[in-house]
Amino acid sequence: MTTGRAEPARLAVLVSGRGSNLQAILDACARGELAGLARVEAVISDNPRAQALDRARAAGVPMVYLLARSSFRRREEYDRALDELLEHLHPDLVCLAGYMRLVAPATVARWRGRMLNIHPALLPAFPGLHAQRQALEYGVRVSGCTVHLVDEGMDTGPILLQEAVPVYPDDTEDTLAARILQVEHRLYPAAIRLILTRRWRLEGRKVIFEESDEG
Ligand code: GRF
Repeated sequence: MTTGRAEPARLAVLVSGRGSNLQAILDACARGELAGLARVEAVISDNPRAQALDRARAAGVPMVYLLARSSFRRREEYDRALDELLEHLHPDLVCLAGYMRLVAPATVARWRGRMLNIHPALLPAFPGLHAQRQALEYGVRVSGCTVHLVDEGMDTGPILLQEAVPVYPDDTEDTLAARILQVEHRLYPAAIRLILTRRWRLEGRKVIFEESDEG
């Protein structure tokens, strides 16, 4: 994926909860480092109570979808509905932002290299749920966050950007999460910008960025 597009890239953002990363992306598109480069065209939530839905509506996102997990009898039906919806929307990038489900392998395959996720730890350390708690319990002195391409595993895809934050002796899960979250809100738009503006290729699991098209 490269620069040179006349129109802003169309993003679909998948959410399940609070939506602060969605907000950071919306703000970056409106007046930050994604201005003119990307716009959030659709937000899809699997949770009817997600605060992210309110944020999407308040920001005037053109398409806001609820695919409530509870309205599907079987997991495969939900997976198919999501797959079909993404196919229909056909965004340039799919951004997982606090989306609490594994994306089905067929959907991952369809969007390979065009689906991103953010995780509140320095992967491959502490994948999965409660990453900040895992970090505290392990006793690490440094944690952080990672934006990566999505593959079939849980938080295992090729890494785009990472940034570290210190872990202090008196940290609680909440204080560490808040420190990491501040960085997340900067790192996710930066990663989206990177993948939209630079040529890149995969070597094994390494993302290699080529010369900047921006000069
Ligand atoms: C973030 O910490 C993100 O890294 C993780 O879930 C949290 C979502 O927060 N995947 P929010 O919904 O973006 O506020």
